[in-house]
Amino acid sequence: MKFAEITGWGKCLPPAVLSNADLTTFMDTSDEWITSRTGIQERRILHCNFSDMAVVAARRALAAANLDPMELDLILLGSLTVDSMCPNTASLIADELGARNAAAIDLNSACTGFLYGLHVGSNLIKTGAHKKVLVLGGEFISHYMDWSNRDVAVLFGDACGAVVIEAADHEVGLLSARIGCESDAKYAIQITNIGSAESRLSEEFLFNTWNFEGQEVFKRAVKAMAQGCEEVLRDTGLSIDDVSLVVPHQANKRILDALAKRVGIDEDRVFVNVHKYGNTSAGTIPVALAEAVDEGRVKAGDTLLTASFGAGLTWGAGVIRWGERTTPLAVSDAELPPNDKTALELLEPHIARYAARAAARG
Ligand code: UT7
Repeated sequence: MKFAEITGWGKCLPPAVLSNADLTTFMDTSDEWITSRTGIQERRILHCNFSDMAVVAARRALAAANLDPMELDLILLGSLTVDSMCPNTASLIADELGARNAAAIDLNSACTGFLYGLHVGSNLIKTGAHKKVLVLGGEFISHYMDWSNRDVAVLFGDACGAVVIEAADHEVGLLSARIGCESDAKYAIQITNIGSAESRLSEEFLFNTWNFEGQEVFKRAVKAMAQGCEEVLRDTGLSIDDVSLVVPHQANKRILDALAKRVGIDEDRVFVNVHKYGNTSAGTIPVALAEAVDEGRVKAGDTLLTASFGAGLTWGAGVIRWGERTTPLAVSDAELPPNDKTALELLEPHIARYAARAAARG
């Protein structure tokens, strides 16, 4: 039986920081509300194309695995905020990396995109169909934000993370995963005008409006993530006491606390970085994983638990056995193009457009 070891990890965070105080300059909100309800203190705003950020995360993950892009046979990109649908954005990333032997798939399952991708990639390796796979998760969500809607604008940020997974003969990598979708509640998170269904008849600039039933999503997220965790632990014959660290989707600190309580693990064994980046959708887990390893929170042979929940309403959970190596084999010098604007300056045209629409509506 083959396994799919995580041999490389990398992340890319845009440099422009949007603080809670920044948000209060154009929105009726407060640092106190955002911090107490979500734990979020700041988030990042991207100044270039999504694929630029994804390529940097990919190069860092490839360097950590010391893998030539020509050796990749598959690239799986979890994102709903891609550069383009045709060509698909995984192919832009493949070309930029010089990954000439890789198939390239965009995979949109919102916040669960990375976990779905890790599941698909790991199983393709386990069957022998593929050997070396790059799995990315990331988002340029600020581009699709309704900057007049405080219910959602304070929650999200931009980021991308990536892992390299490679065939291994010993029990390592994603040992068990469960993925699912509560499609009966699909409109509990909805962004208008990204797909063709609503935009095909319009000739005007299309605003992205969000339908976001926060409390409903909160309750479902805690329940589905906790149940998923219990199921994957049962699948592997492990208990929560065997888990060194939980590396979950980062949407809200209160969700992480509730999850820890439900699965019966101390909060200090749950990795948290939502205060720094907000909810980066498909980016949260690979960024958290890369940070956890780089900060020494993951030791050789550790058992990790992960879980996610997002639009769809998609969910997933997995048990990951880390390998022997917790340090990168090499370090990439890849960087984003320079940026000399503040986050507020980057957002200014969006904020103005949405404010004008809100004013016109009274
Ligand atoms: O990654 C996808 C998965 N996403 C999630 O899992 C998110 C799940 N949901 C949540 O994290 C929380 O439900 C939220 C953070 C979105 C909201 O927290 P909440 O404690 O459920 O607040 P609420 O929606 O009940 O709103 C409470 C009040 C409302 O005012 P009233 O009606 O009580 O007067 C809101 O209008 O807070 C108001 N409010 C705000 N006030 C200041 C909503 N957004 C803001 C804001 N600043 N940004």
